[in-house]
Amino acid sequence: MNINENIKVLQQIAEQYKNRSILSLFDDDKNRVEKLTLSFEHMIGDFSKQKIDDEILKALENFAELCGFAQKREQMFSGAKINVTEKRAVLHTALRNSTSDDIRVDGINIIPEIKDVLRQMENFCAKFHSGELVGYSGKRLDTIVNIGIGGSDLGPKMVCTALKPYHKKNTAIHFVSNVDSTHLVETLTLCNPETTLFIIASKTFTTEETMTNAHSARMWFLNNGGNDESVGKHFIALSTNLKETSAFGINPDNVFRFWDWVGGRFSLWSAIGLPIALICGYDCFRELLSGGEEMDKHFHTKEMRHNIPIMMAFCTFWNTTINGMANHAVLPYDEYLRLFPAFLQQLEMESIGKFVVMNGNKVEYKTNPSVWGQPGTDSQHSFFQLIHQGTDIIPCDFIAAAQSHNPLGNHQQRLLANFLAQTEALMNGKSAATVREELEKAGLNEKEIEGLIQHKIFEGNRPTTTILCKKIDAFTLGALIAMYEHKVFTLGILWNINSFDQWGVELGKQLAKKILPELSNKADEPQHDASTNNLIRQIHAWSNE
Ligand code: F6P
Repeated sequence: MNINENIKVLQQIAEQYKNRSILSLFDDDKNRVEKLTLSFEHMIGDFSKQKIDDEILKALENFAELCGFAQKREQMFSGAKINVTEKRAVLHTALRNSTSDDIRVDGINIIPEIKDVLRQMENFCAKFHSGELVGYSGKRLDTIVNIGIGGSDLGPKMVCTALKPYHKKNTAIHFVSNVDSTHLVETLTLCNPETTLFIIASKTFTTEETMTNAHSARMWFLNNGGNDESVGKHFIALSTNLKETSAFGINPDNVFRFWDWVGGRFSLWSAIGLPIALICGYDCFRELLSGGEEMDKHFHTKEMRHNIPIMMAFCTFWNTTINGMANHAVLPYDEYLRLFPAFLQQLEMESIGKFVVMNGNKVEYKTNPSVWGQPGTDSQHSFFQLIHQGTDIIPCDFIAAAQSHNPLGNHQQRLLANFLAQTEALMNGKSAATVREELEKAGLNEKEIEGLIQHKIFEGNRPTTTILCKKIDAFTLGALIAMYEHKVFTLGILWNINSFDQWGVELGKQLAKKILPELSNKADEPQHDASTNNLIRQIHAWSNE
């Protein structure tokens, strides 16, 4: 199959739709809302405000079939090494699979190992919550500091923030990721060394930022009452690298393992989720896994048109590759989901921000929109101007829950009124005639109307997806995350991209290693391009003042 030619066929279909509005598609099909609103437990995904219809969906389904989608999905679930450049299976789904007893990697059944680690997590949580885990002075550990970065930070941090209403009492949690010392120093001002548990979360246990922060945290601990013998009580690790965790001095009983078939940005379901289980309770963590597992079943079995992650991927593929839209905004109308866009930035952009296809050839079509967002309603007062009237069309996901965790007066109705109004405005727009009528009613004269009218027109016809949940609890959140994970997987198949490696992060890391000694040793002349050399000299000069 030639993907490029099939993309051209889809582009021809798009051309025929060029002058048709999303709104007109509702007139063409009276059942549009029923057809394009998909249900999953206490969640619905409404795709009717996207510029798609039966004909487009049929063409997208055909395209997915030509890409071998069903077979590739099967390969992922069954543990085939679909991450070909790293020769790894991709089995985050196995971590939340409570029904299968046998999933194999290299002939070894991984389910017993997964269950062992879950038991270890459960036991550790039980001891932590009962107060059995004490620090060097005998006081109960009550503060958690998770030190990690990327997938070893963003996922658990986002979930802990989203599930704040479920936090255990008298326990605090902090996340330190940035190698900027401010992050660690500021966090440590909130901690008592006698009662703090440091979790060093790193798949590789070699990541520069995490190891630098981990060593500095240990130094702080030793300088503030701790000693070498008590490091084991206060430092635990979540990692695949048992050699390095032991070199750091972590008690092997307090290393929570995972495996190379868990990608960093897909790892919150593994031992990397321990901070979630500690702050929200182990049962809550299991609920999160259950939500992910139910979404896996949905993704694995539902036909494409009724499959929420596939429909999300179709919309992004249609908007970006076929219609050239280069951005994608994610807008949770839920304050607890404020870190969801940041989490999705890694999940989506580290997965599919790539310019080569599976065989190493340069991709010949547009992929990977930039993903960004902020909670509503705050975002309405910052970048929504551009979403409504900018020259680029920016498809958006609007996410909200009907129920608030903190009901207060009519705040939730106001929030949801805004949530609904935005998608309505983006689709319907406002015509010149309506603007004129409004301005006339407001008593403006013709000259004033002429001066304003163009500025107040909304072209509309801007595609959005609405995800409406009953309430953001652990189960629903698990499903929501898994939904985006499978969207990413599906896009990888449609674009013929390996969604599971991340070679693009290497070069900067390599160069930073070279620059670091040059920053410490001022005597040597820096060996870079003229701009970088000049900046290094300026840093030397200013660091001394
Ligand atoms: O930024 C690259 C990356 O490898 C991510 O994929 C990963 O989530 C992050 O670094 C952290 O890696 P580790 O868990 O090994 O410290």
